[in-house]
Amino acid sequence: MNRVKEIEELIKGKNAEDILKTIATLHNERIMFSTSLSYEDQVITHFIFTHDLNISVFTLDTGRLFPETYSVLSSTLNRYKKPIHVFSPATAKVEELMTKKGPFSFYDSVENRKECCFIRKVEPLKRALQGKTIWITGIRAEHSEGRNDMPIVEWDESNQIIKIHPLLNWSMEDVKKVIKQFNIPYNPLHDKGFISIGCQPCTRAIKEGENFRAGRWWWEDNSKKECGLHG
Ligand code: ADX
Ligand code: SF4
Repeated sequence: MNRVKEIEELIKGKNAEDILKTIATLHNERIMFSTSLSYEDQVITHFIFTHDLNISVFTLDTGRLFPETYSVLSSTLNRYKKPIHVFSPATAKVEELMTKKGPFSFYDSVENRKECCFIRKVEPLKRALQGKTIWITGIRAEHSEGRNDMPIVEWDESNQIIKIHPLLNWSMEDVKKVIKQFNIPYNPLHDKGFISIGCQPCTRAIKEGENFRAGRWWWEDNSKKECGLHG
């Protein structure tokens, strides 16, 4: 896609903050940033809100997040006084899933887990991205092997949108430094061994030396650990 190449050229050699500023000036684009309220995402939210950038921020409230994650949402709203749009799963779908399979069906099979992720994350994401042209995420290459060779700008075929990952090449130390420097609200679970934080029943802390995503869907094979948001 030509537009991907054009944007690549525009942001070449720029740091994450300048990438966001540059993208936000593209007036023909409709730009969304998805925040899971993780360390990384809080850095991007900080840049967007403090520079008042023309980028809408949204989060997917799966209904199964940690209480600490809701606290970060609340402290972020208080700190910046800017909107974070919340997308929730379709009520009828959640009611059907819970009635038919109970609250913990995701532990029983990969199919069940993907079904829950589809209802609680993927479908709401599709609604959030409807009619939009650029989707910014907080993905870092270090998160998992599959993210190692990702480009900063890419075409997302399934959502028909340009995806941009401004923090792709940041290390955990880079993220922590900025969080500290600007006293950005962050999830206290990050200080308790939780690196990658998703839904409460599907996330646990990791031990030293374990892979960053080892705490996500820990009962499944490594190869299956994507929820469908990112392919
Ligand atoms: S996931 O695919 O495993 O769920 P991960 O937690 O690594 O994703 O986060 C990668 C990026 O996906 C985040 O930086 C954020 O942009 C987006 N994301 C993940 N979970 C959510 C969520 N609940 N709401 C909004 N965006 C999310
Ligand atoms: Fe459901 Fe777990 Fe996926 Fe959250 S991470 S949507 S609880 S299967």
